[in-house]
Amino acid sequence: MTLPRAASIVILTGAGISAESGLRTFRDANGLWENHRVEDVATPEAFHHNPALVHRFYNERRRSLPSVQPNAAHLALARLERERPGEVLLVTQNVDDLHDRAGSRNLVHMHGELLKGRCLACRAVLDWPGDMDADSRCPACRRGQLRPHIVWFGEVPLEMERIYRALEGCALFAAIGTSGHVYPAAGFVEAVGPEARTVELNLEPSRVADAFQEHRSGPATELVPAFVAELLARR
Ligand code: OAD
Repeated sequence: MTLPRAASIVILTGAGISAESGLRTFRDANGLWENHRVEDVATPEAFHHNPALVHRFYNERRRSLPSVQPNAAHLALARLERERPGEVLLVTQNVDDLHDRAGSRNLVHMHGELLKGRCLACRAVLDWPGDMDADSRCPACRRGQLRPHIVWFGEVPLEMERIYRALEGCALFAAIGTSGHVYPAAGFVEAVGPEARTVELNLEPSRVADAFQEHRSGPATELVPAFVAELLARR
């Protein structure tokens, strides 16, 4: 795939890119939602009615992070950002920190971050590497209760203006390891300009596969390093 040197790229990632690091996806067999109904753990109503269950669910996810490592796909995307002269914006739906640890910096966590908490009183967003419960208090205002810094169903994802601006101006949009079930991310492929190339990299076609010009089929740890090498080779 050849692109002008300064052309900008937007990459969207989903749970599939972290699967080979050992983190479960949401909708595959044995996916995360299998043991929980989404509305029991990932909605503001769930947090209101049963905060202990919601905290437990996200505490488990947070505790699993130290034992997993970024894989070749995360590392390749960090290399792409470092080595390409044009802007590479990485938008992830993942709440893990594997892109951060791989070295990606121009990164939007549109669905929030497991390792952060948000104060219900002063709205401060804070680093929160440990467990959180109903007694956790905001270190900034010292009174507010904390919630996981996660975008739940029914809430608006983060930094949407920045994302749509980048989509409108990009020369290439690639979606990696995402099933196309959850909007607005599933609609990003429709938001690019008329000249943009679009490619999907996934184990299997996503729900919105027809909207992409090109498909590459296989595991992210194989597809993504090859894709990045191609983008860096022919500048
Ligand atoms: P899903 O679990 O819906 O989809 C994972 C996708 O990754 C599927 O299309 C798989 O085919 C693909 N996949 C699995 N293993 C792969 C591998 N090794 N290499 C390449 N692809 C692989 O996860 P998402 O699309 O990320 O939101 O889900 C989107 C959102 O739904 C999540 O961010 C989460 C959830 O509800 C919130 O929690 C707000």
